[in-house]
Amino acid sequence: MKALILNSGLGSRMGEYVENNPKCMVKISNEETIISRQIRMLYELGITDVVITTGRFADKIEAYCKSLKLPLNITFVYNPDYESTNYIYSIFLAREYLQDDILLMHGDLVFEKVILKDMLISDESRVVVSSTASVPQKDFKAVIDNGVVKKIGVDFFDNAISCQPLYLFKKDEFKIWLDKIEDFCKCGNKRCYAENAFNEVSDFINLKPLDIKDSLCHEIDNVNDLELIKEKLYWLKDKVVYMCFSTDIIHGGHIAIIKKAQSLGRLVVGLLSDEAVAGYKRFPLIPFSERKEMMENITGVYRVIEQNKLSYKDNLMLLKPDIVVHGDDWKEGVQKQIRNEVIETLASYGGELVEFSYAKDKKYIELDRRMNKESAMPEMRRGRLKKLIQAKGLVTAMETHSGLTGLIVENTVVEQDGGVKQFDAMWISSLCDSTAKGKPDIELVDATSRYRTIDDVCEVTTKPIIFDGDTGGLTEHFVYTVRSLERMGVSMVIIEDKKGLKKNSLFGNDVDQTQASIEEFCYKIREGKKAQRTEDFMICARIESLILEKGIYDALNRANAYCEAGADAIMIHSRKKEPDEIFEFVERFREKNSKIPIVVVPTSYNSVTEEEFKNRGVNIVIYANQFTRAAFPAMKNVAETILKNHRSKECDEKCMAINDIIRLIPEEL
Ligand code: SPV
Ligand code: MG
Repeated sequence: MKALILNSGLGSRMGEYVENNPKCMVKISNEETIISRQIRMLYELGITDVVITTGRFADKIEAYCKSLKLPLNITFVYNPDYESTNYIYSIFLAREYLQDDILLMHGDLVFEKVILKDMLISDESRVVVSSTASVPQKDFKAVIDNGVVKKIGVDFFDNAISCQPLYLFKKDEFKIWLDKIEDFCKCGNKRCYAENAFNEVSDFINLKPLDIKDSLCHEIDNVNDLELIKEKLYWLKDKVVYMCFSTDIIHGGHIAIIKKAQSLGRLVVGLLSDEAVAGYKRFPLIPFSERKEMMENITGVYRVIEQNKLSYKDNLMLLKPDIVVHGDDWKEGVQKQIRNEVIETLASYGGELVEFSYAKDKKYIELDRRMNKESAMPEMRRGRLKKLIQAKGLVTAMETHSGLTGLIVENTVVEQDGGVKQFDAMWISSLCDSTAKGKPDIELVDATSRYRTIDDVCEVTTKPIIFDGDTGGLTEHFVYTVRSLERMGVSMVIIEDKKGLKKNSLFGNDVDQTQASIEEFCYKIREGKKAQRTEDFMICARIESLILEKGIYDALNRANAYCEAGADAIMIHSRKKEPDEIFEFVERFREKNSKIPIVVVPTSYNSVTEEEFKNRGVNIVIYANQFTRAAFPAMKNVAETILKNHRSKECDEKCMAINDIIRLIPEEL
């Protein structure tokens, strides 16, 4: 990246200020001139290569820049025809030094630091515009079409917006402009604006507006401008302030902290992506794009950028804000680690953390509780699994067979890698639901009892539910199951392509199990999809071909047929220790179908990590039975200990304290 500062102009409207000095050396504060402020900022932002075009007072400009003693590599390009040409010709003369990304500014431009930072984090070419400034009569205006700048000049008024000569051009796009500038100059067209050349090639350049709203970015054309800018600079807090938000409801507490933050400088909001919010608390009620728009329209918010992790580090290193603001409520708990990382990152470049006491107003706490409760309602809960898959790519579901296990899935959070990790969803396993009732996993526990389990779970949780629907039963019954589950707020039912007396898949061919024909099972899927009333609910077809050793091609064949019949997802099951056949299935299925979510249950092939599954194209990982398997030996051990000792004292250390168990479940609803 190189900066190009255009200083060949005469500045004749500045009167006595430019009698003995160039305009760029006019003082704008006690400490700084226009150019010293510009190049100090470039230095602070790490731009060390600077090209300055000069004309009148070229020697003075050079000597002055050197006297500032900043470790910059400055190339001066003298335009000998400065009196009879415009800066288009100066750019032409400097062209050999401009084969890079270019940050271009006029030499009489005064602007805030936040604008440069904002430009530098953009991965597209940008020009400064202001949506809040009135459209000027004489100065530059930009005409924007579909979010892209099509014309820049002083004579455009239709669909025009105020625009300032501060640009960031990506290398290839600057070259297109530069080539046109060269054409113009070689044809003797040296007195017009360089923007005239831009306007001829704008269709080939994706120049996006950078809306700076009411922040300072202005040329000093005359003495009036100078007085105005001096006044603004006097009051300006030229600091960039960063604050992270995850919220989807804005309340007075947020507004109060935004006000405090913006009193410290220009406020850039890092808005957590849906994925990041979902991994940290409940899934946002409003999607990222709408939350962003909401934030952007709050007075005092200069810019909203995405923060796609709980960790601030990436955004801080990109933006290097002078100040990070946070409520003082993150010194303990899961956010403590994040706070420590913020402090460390700020220290690496000299930033500062400001913590304000956070309004723990009862009504905000109540609001949060209400939102949480709302998100447990069937209408809200049902659609969340689809959204989670979309936002995260891979979601995890944990065995749940009771209110208590539901609570553990709901509330267990671990801190990891500067973030937090929790389960996304619950799996209501037929094996564990049956086992909890002391029954075999053979579709013996009837629908009413299974729905009772769902109800218990729903009462104390908010996370989405995946229901193990066994074979789905008779198609005539399955359609009712779909309606019931949908009504209860379940997100997905998984039915397996078996018929007759169903046995648990992990028996494989050790017991008699019969797979349904493709036609039979497709019919069940089709009828289930017809019965469904909402868009949110998903029917997942579970393929038992690998369990029954029918081979990968049978599995793939079935997967394609089930998708055609309308299945919303495919579960592929295996009881092998090694994941090879699952990997092969996923790879081959993904060659033809990149969208349909794939579900796996890695009970046997349990060495594969979630990250590897995700990389291979899996979307849901179900931990199907680990609670039950952990609880049973623990309970058995306690039973034996009591029996052996004729009292319970010896098993106390294996048990949770009485005080903890009575407080585990809060009484209030
Ligand atoms: C269940 O958890 O009930 C399942 C998965 O269906 S498995 O036990 O692996 O078949
Ligand atoms: Mg099952």
